[in-house]
Amino acid sequence: MGIAPPALAGSADEAAARALYRARCGYYDLQLAPYEGLRRCAVERLGLKPGQVVLDIGCGTGMSLDLLQQAVGPAGRVVAVDQSHEMLEQARQRVEREGWQQVELVCSPVQDAVLPARADAALFHFTHDILQTPAALDHVLAQLAPGARLAVCGLKWAPPLFAAFNPLVWWHAVQSVTTLDGLDAPWAGLAQRGARLTVEPLLCGTLFLASGQLP
Ligand SMILES: C[S@@+](CC[C@H](N)C(=O)[O-])C[C@H]1O[C@@H](n2cnc3c(N)ncnc32)[C@H](O)[C@@H]1O
Repeated sequence: MGIAPPALAGSADEAAARALYRARCGYYDLQLAPYEGLRRCAVERLGLKPGQVVLDIGCGTGMSLDLLQQAVGPAGRVVAVDQSHEMLEQARQRVEREGWQQVELVCSPVQDAVLPARADAALFHFTHDILQTPAALDHVLAQLAPGARLAVCGLKWAPPLFAAFNPLVWWHAVQSVTTLDGLDAPWAGLAQRGARLTVEPLLCGTLFLASGQLP
């Protein structure tokens, strides 16, 4: 069965996203390998301390889990959520292989996931569809403690000066997302909900890293 092309506008499409990641799960880690430096920076921006609880929102194959579990240590907790069974199965194998006791995997759309009541931080690493899903943002923010730290990164449209790069952004985006809405400022939904974020544009504004905290 073919994968439907992503809508150019509108809300994220759960069925299309599941199909997209079912197809991608086998080679996803290879495709994301070039962004490893950005992942490290994003996790660093969370400023995690031993014993804290961190959410990995749209965790995929679990490529952030090692950094997160190291940062919270054996007394901490990492709760990683993804709606794709196939992506999460890769994460499950990773957790099992490494023997990480403090990592918990939740297979669910973020907006319906059972999350710990008071998490200290949340990572949104390349999760554009989730950032464009108001119910998902409301649900995650409701579980975060006051002052919780956030790190968000991914693709964005380049500013006018670097618009020549936007076909490249489009090419990458259509392999990863089911809506291009909000790609000029993917973090906006979090900011509208009160998150105080500092946004760092990277690679001529084709990528961003936004970090900060809740009031
Ligand atoms: C580009 S991948 C990012 C994976 C991981 N964060 C990383 O950086 O390697 C996006 C992930 O978000 C998941 N996803 C998309 N929408 C979702 C939703 N509403 N709830 C849960 N997971 C979702 C997809 O299944 C996919 O695994």
